[in-house]
Amino acid sequence: MKLLSLTSVAAIALQASTALSAALAVRGPANIFVQNPFTSNDVTKEDRPIPGDSPVKLCDVFTPKQLTIDHINISPNPPEKGSNLTIEASGTLHTTVTKGSYIEVDVRYGYVRLLTQKFDLCEQIEQVDLKCPLGPGPLALTKVVELPQQIPPGQYIAVARAFTSDSKPITCLSAQVTFDVSLPF
Ligand SMILES: *[C@@H]1O[C@H](CO)[C@@H](O)[C@H](O)[C@H]1NC(C)=O
Repeated sequence: MKLLSLTSVAAIALQASTALSAALAVRGPANIFVQNPFTSNDVTKEDRPIPGDSPVKLCDVFTPKQLTIDHINISPNPPEKGSNLTIEASGTLHTTVTKGSYIEVDVRYGYVRLLTQKFDLCEQIEQVDLKCPLGPGPLALTKVVELPQQIPPGQYIAVARAFTSDSKPITCLSAQVTFDVSLPF
Protein backbone atom coordinates (compact mmCIF):
# COMPACT_ATOMS: atom_id res chain seq x y z
CA MET A 1 0.00 0.00 0.00
CA LYS A 2 2.88 2.18 0.61
CA LEU A 3 3.53 2.15 -2.89
CA LEU A 4 0.17 2.62 -3.91
CA SER A 5 -0.84 5.01 -1.44
CA LEU A 6 2.07 7.03 -1.97
CA THR A 7 2.01 6.77 -5.54
CA SER A 8 -1.53 7.24 -6.13
CA VAL A 9 -2.39 9.64 -3.45
CA ALA A 10 0.78 11.60 -3.79
CA ALA A 11 0.51 11.49 -7.53
CA ILE A 12 -3.06 12.61 -7.28
CA ALA A 13 -2.33 15.37 -4.83
CA LEU A 14 0.90 16.54 -6.39
CA GLN A 15 0.04 16.17 -10.01
CA ALA A 16 -3.49 17.37 -9.62
CA SER A 17 -2.63 20.40 -7.58
CA THR A 18 0.33 21.28 -9.74
CA ALA A 19 -1.49 20.77 -13.00
CA LEU A 20 -4.56 22.50 -11.72
CA SER A 21 -2.80 25.44 -10.27
CA ALA A 22 -0.77 25.92 -13.38
CA ALA A 23 -3.63 25.46 -15.77
CA LEU A 24 -6.42 27.13 -13.91
CA ALA A 25 -4.75 29.88 -11.98
CA VAL A 26 -3.29 31.19 -15.17
CA ARG A 27 -6.14 30.76 -17.60
CA GLY A 28 -9.24 30.29 -15.49
CA PRO A 29 -11.56 27.29 -15.71
CA ALA A 30 -13.58 28.74 -18.58
CA ASN A 31 -10.59 28.63 -20.90
CA ILE A 32 -9.55 25.06 -20.26
CA PHE A 33 -9.71 22.89 -23.33
CA VAL A 34 -12.12 20.04 -22.70
CA GLN A 35 -10.58 16.76 -23.75
CA ASN A 36 -13.29 14.30 -24.58
CA PRO A 37 -14.79 14.00 -21.10
CA PHE A 38 -16.89 10.96 -21.96
CA THR A 39 -14.27 8.36 -22.74
CA SER A 40 -14.53 5.23 -20.65
CA ASN A 41 -11.14 5.52 -18.94
CA ASP A 42 -12.59 7.22 -15.90
CA VAL A 43 -15.39 4.74 -15.46
CA THR A 44 -14.12 2.86 -12.46
CA LYS A 45 -16.73 0.12 -12.45
CA GLU A 46 -17.34 -0.74 -8.84
CA ASP A 47 -15.86 1.32 -6.01
CA ARG A 48 -15.49 0.12 -2.45
CA PRO A 49 -14.44 2.12 0.62
CA ILE A 50 -10.95 1.47 2.02
CA PRO A 51 -10.71 1.22 5.84
CA GLY A 52 -9.41 4.38 7.51
CA ASP A 53 -10.16 8.06 7.39
CA SER A 54 -9.81 9.22 3.79
CA PRO A 55 -11.83 9.90 0.66
CA VAL A 56 -9.84 7.22 -1.21
CA LYS A 57 -11.76 4.24 -2.54
CA LEU A 58 -10.70 1.02 -4.14
CA CYS A 59 -11.87 0.79 -7.75
CA ASP A 60 -12.19 -1.95 -10.34
CA VAL A 61 -13.02 -4.14 -7.34
CA PHE A 62 -13.70 -7.25 -9.43
CA THR A 63 -10.22 -7.20 -10.97
CA PRO A 64 -7.64 -9.30 -9.07
CA LYS A 65 -4.83 -7.08 -7.81
CA GLN A 66 -1.29 -7.46 -6.53
CA LEU A 67 -1.73 -5.10 -3.58
CA THR A 68 -4.00 -5.58 -0.57
CA ILE A 69 -4.60 -2.27 1.20
CA ASP A 70 -5.23 -2.48 4.94
CA HIS A 71 -5.97 1.17 5.54
CA ILE A 72 -5.39 4.73 4.36
CA ASN A 73 -5.62 7.73 6.67
CA ILE A 74 -5.24 11.31 5.61
CA SER A 75 -5.09 14.34 7.86
CA PRO A 76 -6.82 16.69 7.66
CA ASN A 77 -9.73 14.89 6.05
CA PRO A 78 -11.02 16.41 3.85
CA PRO A 79 -7.79 18.00 2.57
CA GLU A 80 -7.43 21.77 2.91
CA LYS A 81 -5.61 23.93 0.44
CA GLY A 82 -2.64 25.80 1.76
CA SER A 83 -2.02 23.22 4.47
CA ASN A 84 0.12 20.14 4.89
CA LEU A 85 -1.64 16.91 4.06
CA THR A 86 -0.37 13.82 5.87
CA ILE A 87 -0.98 10.50 4.18
CA GLU A 88 -0.47 7.27 6.09
CA ALA A 89 -1.19 3.82 4.71
CA SER A 90 -0.36 0.15 4.99
CA GLY A 91 -0.89 -2.99 3.00
CA THR A 92 0.67 -6.09 1.53
CA LEU A 93 2.25 -6.46 -1.86
CA HIS A 94 1.85 -9.89 -3.47
CA THR A 95 4.38 -9.42 -6.23
CA THR A 96 7.66 -7.68 -6.90
CA VAL A 97 7.43 -4.20 -8.34
CA THR A 98 10.29 -3.83 -10.78
CA LYS A 99 11.56 -1.31 -13.29
CA GLY A 100 8.96 -0.76 -15.98
CA SER A 101 6.00 -0.75 -13.58
CA TYR A 102 3.75 2.21 -14.16
CA ILE A 103 0.78 4.16 -12.90
CA GLU A 104 -1.94 5.79 -14.95
CA VAL A 105 -3.49 8.88 -13.39
CA ASP A 106 -6.63 10.56 -14.58
CA VAL A 107 -7.83 13.78 -12.93
CA ARG A 108 -11.03 15.62 -13.71
CA TYR A 109 -12.14 19.04 -12.52
CA GLY A 110 -15.91 18.94 -12.74
CA TYR A 111 -16.39 17.65 -16.27
CA VAL A 112 -13.05 18.87 -17.50
CA ARG A 113 -10.26 16.37 -17.89
CA LEU A 114 -7.21 18.05 -16.42
CA LEU A 115 -4.68 15.32 -16.56
CA THR A 116 -4.31 11.90 -18.12
CA GLN A 117 -0.80 10.72 -17.64
CA LYS A 118 1.34 7.65 -17.21
CA PHE A 119 4.07 7.80 -14.56
CA ASP A 120 7.01 5.54 -13.83
CA LEU A 121 6.05 3.75 -10.63
CA CYS A 122 9.64 3.21 -9.47
CA GLU A 123 10.30 6.95 -9.74
CA GLN A 124 7.10 7.75 -7.85
CA ILE A 125 7.87 5.45 -4.93
CA GLU A 126 11.22 7.12 -4.40
CA GLN A 127 9.25 10.10 -3.14
CA VAL A 128 8.29 7.94 -0.19
CA ASP A 129 11.79 6.67 0.31
CA LEU A 130 11.12 3.29 -1.30
CA LYS A 131 13.08 1.69 -4.07
CA CYS A 132 12.53 -0.85 -6.80
CA PRO A 133 12.60 -3.81 -6.70
CA LEU A 134 9.91 -3.67 -4.03
CA GLY A 135 8.06 -6.54 -2.39
CA PRO A 136 6.56 -9.00 -2.00
CA GLY A 137 5.58 -8.36 1.60
CA PRO A 138 4.09 -5.81 3.97
CA LEU A 139 4.35 -2.09 3.18
CA ALA A 140 3.78 0.98 5.31
CA LEU A 141 4.11 4.57 4.34
CA THR A 142 3.79 8.07 5.68
CA LYS A 143 4.07 11.12 3.48
CA VAL A 144 3.46 14.82 3.97
CA VAL A 145 2.37 16.80 0.94
CA GLU A 146 2.08 20.57 1.02
CA LEU A 147 -1.06 21.60 -0.84
CA PRO A 148 -0.84 24.95 -2.58
CA GLN A 149 -3.13 27.79 -1.55
CA GLN A 150 -3.91 28.43 -5.23
CA ILE A 151 -5.94 25.28 -5.88
CA PRO A 152 -9.06 26.50 -7.69
CA PRO A 153 -12.27 25.73 -5.78
CA GLY A 154 -14.43 22.95 -7.13
CA GLN A 155 -14.79 19.21 -7.33
CA TYR A 156 -11.87 17.03 -8.35
CA ILE A 157 -12.09 13.36 -9.21
CA ALA A 158 -8.90 11.39 -9.52
CA VAL A 159 -8.36 7.77 -10.53
CA ALA A 160 -4.99 6.06 -10.33
CA ARG A 161 -4.28 2.58 -11.65
CA ALA A 162 -0.92 0.96 -11.03
CA PHE A 163 0.45 -1.95 -13.06
CA THR A 164 3.48 -4.21 -13.00
CA SER A 165 5.93 -4.09 -15.90
CA ASP A 166 4.00 -6.96 -17.51
CA SER A 167 0.72 -5.06 -17.01
CA LYS A 168 -0.74 -7.01 -14.10
CA PRO A 169 -3.00 -4.70 -12.05
CA ILE A 170 -1.41 -3.68 -8.74
CA THR A 171 -4.20 -1.45 -7.53
CA CYS A 172 -6.86 1.01 -8.54
CA LEU A 173 -7.60 4.02 -6.34
CA SER A 174 -10.13 6.75 -6.80
CA ALA A 175 -10.83 9.87 -4.80
CA GLN A 176 -13.30 12.68 -4.99
CA VAL A 177 -12.33 15.90 -3.24
CA THR A 178 -14.04 19.27 -3.14
CA PHE A 179 -12.09 22.42 -2.36
CA ASP A 180 -14.23 25.31 -1.17
CA VAL A 181 -13.86 28.91 -2.10
CA SER A 182 -11.54 30.46 0.44
CA LEU A 183 -12.69 33.73 1.91
CA PRO A 184 -10.18 36.55 2.17
CA PHE A 185 -10.98 37.18 5.82
C1 LIG B 1 4.36 22.21 6.04
O1 LIG B 1 5.47 21.51 6.59
C2 LIG B 1 6.72 22.12 6.29
C3 LIG B 1 7.82 21.20 6.80
O2 LIG B 1 7.58 20.81 8.13
C4 LIG B 1 6.77 23.51 6.91
O3 LIG B 1 7.99 24.14 6.62
C5 LIG B 1 5.62 24.33 6.37
O4 LIG B 1 5.58 25.59 7.01
C6 LIG B 1 4.30 23.62 6.58
N1 LIG B 1 3.25 24.37 5.90
C7 LIG B 1 2.10 24.69 6.50
C8 LIG B 1 1.12 25.45 5.67
O5 LIG B 1 1.84 24.38 7.66
